[in-house]
Amino acid sequence: MRTPMVAGNWKLNGSRESATSLAREVAATPVAGVDVVVCPVSVHTAEVAEVLEGTDVKLGAQNACAHEGGAYTGEVSSTMLAEFGCEYVIIGHSERRSLFGDDNESCAARHQAVMAAGLTSIFCVGETLEDREAGNTMAVVDAQLQAVFDVCGTQAFDGAVIAYEPVWAIGTGVTASPEQAQEVHAHIREFVAAQDQQTAAKLRILYGGSVNAGNAQELFGNTDIDGGLIGGAALKSADFLAVCQAAAAQA
Ligand code: 13P
Repeated sequence: MRTPMVAGNWKLNGSRESATSLAREVAATPVAGVDVVVCPVSVHTAEVAEVLEGTDVKLGAQNACAHEGGAYTGEVSSTMLAEFGCEYVIIGHSERRSLFGDDNESCAARHQAVMAAGLTSIFCVGETLEDREAGNTMAVVDAQLQAVFDVCGTQAFDGAVIAYEPVWAIGTGVTASPEQAQEVHAHIREFVAAQDQQTAAKLRILYGGSVNAGNAQELFGNTDIDGGLIGGAALKSADFLAVCQAAAAQA
């Protein structure tokens, strides 16, 4: 049995004050049976960590460097994040891939560094609308995953989380239908199973892309959808908690 998970990706939003208030509000309502994670902007990590201390809500980050330290201006390492109590790191988000040049190889290296530091990578995959319309969805997702297997070996996703986020559904208000999402999630699980069956069986695969309180339940009701990675709806505690409750209903 896989414990459902709901992670809030706060992206580049918030101030010290709003980030800590949001964390406080989320933590004030425990949701049983769901792993709830929030991923603030890295400069807000320490203050959000303080708010979350002693609560059930876990802390994540939005990216991490492939290197432990050195001449890598602007980066943050997994070990540094771990020092603040981060347990999860989003890797390979489509905004990183499309806007900041995080390609398959660099994402694989970052994933490896996260896992080596003892944190959990939430590794994002997903196709653009162009890919989908050309019938390339599975090929794109496979290539994104294969790059990680090439670097980390067959156990690459042992203890990790994968997030399927179709690029066309992110921040657009257009959600993949439950059938479309389930089809890709099942494919991802099979692709991982071809490398290691045990990893695949326990692997949590989250759906991301315009998830909200209204559509969460029918998405999370599918066999291979183990929760969500939430953007816009994670910025209001009531909306985010409603999505968490929807995951709890499936637990
Ligand atoms: P939205 O929920 O705003 O579509 O964002 C999804 C996302 O990118 C989460 O990582």
